[in-house]
Amino acid sequence: MNTGWSIFIIVVTIANILGCWWLLHWSSKHKADIADSDTTGHRWDGDLQELNKPLPRWWLILFNITIVFGLVYLVLYPGLGNFEGVYKWTQDKRYQSELQAAEAQREQVFAQFAEMDFDALVREPAALQTGQRIFANHCAMCHGSDARGAPGFPNLRDQDWLYGSDADALHTSIADGRQGVMPPFGSVLGEQGIWETVAYVQSLSGQNASPGLVEKGKAHYQALCIACHGPEGRGNQILGAPNLTDDIWLHGGSPDSIAAAISEGRTNRMPPHKELIGEQRVPLVAAYVASLSAADADHGQDEH
Ligand code: HEC
Ligand code: HEC
Repeated sequence: MNTGWSIFIIVVTIANILGCWWLLHWSSKHKADIADSDTTGHRWDGDLQELNKPLPRWWLILFNITIVFGLVYLVLYPGLGNFEGVYKWTQDKRYQSELQAAEAQREQVFAQFAEMDFDALVREPAALQTGQRIFANHCAMCHGSDARGAPGFPNLRDQDWLYGSDADALHTSIADGRQGVMPPFGSVLGEQGIWETVAYVQSLSGQNASPGLVEKGKAHYQALCIACHGPEGRGNQILGAPNLTDDIWLHGGSPDSIAAAISEGRTNRMPPHKELIGEQRVPLVAAYVASLSAADADHGQDEH
């Protein structure tokens, strides 16, 4: 606000208050001229009259108090043009201080969790509750609100882990993200070779497959796949290569879906969440995930 406007507002505000005070003073001084029985001369409904009485004393006192309050307020707080007020109060400072207070309170809550080790967090209901909220806000859109996943998005409740379920593995998955890369083998294997390999992969998890194809597929598997999926097909958690023997599928266990993985490869990405949710929230949501799969293991619900 420029100085001209500021002065204008100051003058109008002060003039208004002084005007009110003068009006009050003037009208109370003139009450001596009025007799108690005087009326304003107005008449309604035949005999209703309006008396011309001075303002009651309590009302005048109240009015004076509001004028004094207004003046004191304008000295302490901003209200007169550019004058900041003695307290130098601003909305922004107020907002900042409330923000700081809220942040400090949150820090305190997290500090209490920061001292606990992972196993203790998994057993601490308050930590799991916070973890659940973080999960609902940041993870449920990919892994599902019940954490059971969807094709391409791993189920986090079962006992089948691409990268592992101990505290460190969960922390790395969540904080730094993961990228699973399966290279395409379509051009190496050719149409026939792909279906032979599909048959062998099916046999690994006990699905029905023609023994003739399985035998040929096994040779392809040993040449091309054991480096990542292991000689017995149990996968490799360092690479995020899935276990192919457990009949739990990330992308789908139908022959078509297995064939697509083999011929085109699969690239899958879990985005890093360290910056997104903050480092101190990572152990809480990791503990929540661990608690879910532990609970399902107890109830024997990991069988599909
Ligand atoms: C944009 C989608 C997306 C979001 C958001 C997401 N994830 Fe993931 N997550 C994935 C995908 C995809 C994978 C599998 C990566 C792969 O195949 O290599 C994965 C893998 C994981 C794994 C490893 C699973 C295993 O079997 O080893 C964990 C643990 C995990 N996510 C937890 C979380 C948590 C906790 C959050 C929330 C803080 C989260 N994810 C948010 C997509 C997502
Ligand atoms: C360089 C390592 C690597 C090699 C070699 C490799 N894979 Fe994979 N494979 C992976 C990874 C990593 C994934 C998981 C991709 C993801 O995260 O979505 C995967 C996924 C798959 C899937 C999907 C599993 C599911 O649960 O949906 C199948 C099937 C598969 N591989 C079969 C094979 C076969 C058969 C071969 C050999 C012809 C092979 N892979 C060679 C790394 C590899």
